[in-house]
Amino acid sequence: MRIDVYFTPDSVTQKKIDGRQVVVIDALRASSTIVTALANGARAVIPVSESAMAVEVRTKLGSEHVLLGGEQGGIKIENFDLGNSPLEYKSEVVNDKIVAMSTTNGTRPFTMFRYNRAVRVGSFLNLSATVKQICASGLDLAFICSGNNGDFSLEDTLVAGGIIDKLADSTISEIELNDSAKLAALHFSANRDRLLESFQESEHGKRLVSLGFSDDVTYCARIDVFDISPQFEDGQISISDPLDLSAGDTLPSGGLPIKGLEL
Ligand code: MLT
Repeated sequence: MRIDVYFTPDSVTQKKIDGRQVVVIDALRASSTIVTALANGARAVIPVSESAMAVEVRTKLGSEHVLLGGEQGGIKIENFDLGNSPLEYKSEVVNDKIVAMSTTNGTRPFTMFRYNRAVRVGSFLNLSATVKQICASGLDLAFICSGNNGDFSLEDTLVAGGIIDKLADSTISEIELNDSAKLAALHFSANRDRLLESFQESEHGKRLVSLGFSDDVTYCARIDVFDISPQFEDGQISISDPLDLSAGDTLPSGGLPIKGLEL
């Protein structure tokens, strides 16, 4: 299996990911928040590139069904229901809801490319489930790290390295890594016993601590809290098949009108 890591979305081209299994990582915090929301019962997360589009999703699907989540500069967006702290996405808040989410870096990779197969959301919280899924797909793999405002980020690289480390112990044979993937694996191997410290030393980790989100950093550094591998398909991230947002169906719970969601 060929495994390529891309440290930022801007270093990816469509050609580089065509035909690949893609895993998107924004360890602090979007991936971890998405995984938590879905594990706690959200029906789907719809990642969008701008906050106004999240509002549009809510208008189209109905405010009773949609929560607005996300951040700008790490802080909850004005008039949104939730910020980007995974700790906010408790089951009593998100159960049975669709979350329209806009964040600075983490939602971007979902909106920048055309994907011809389901994309996985990777984090420490669901590391083993992600590995299981990658092994099942058997396809060559590309990690898109969301990075930090266009720059390399230590924390996304650490998670990519953790997944590669576990893949190396799996049944997959003949793993071939690009230089970035080798670096990610080395970074993980040097920090495997100090994941939290490594997150705390990263630029974004320090910023989150300074903003009062130190508990989020601790939370996101935990391995295998959830046994789920959310997939991005048809514009939505979910654990099961994507909701049919264009066929005029209604959802069993609450009769959500889902016809013709076009943004
Ligand atoms: C992002 O998408 O840029 C991050 O998840 C920022 C954050 O920590 O909220």
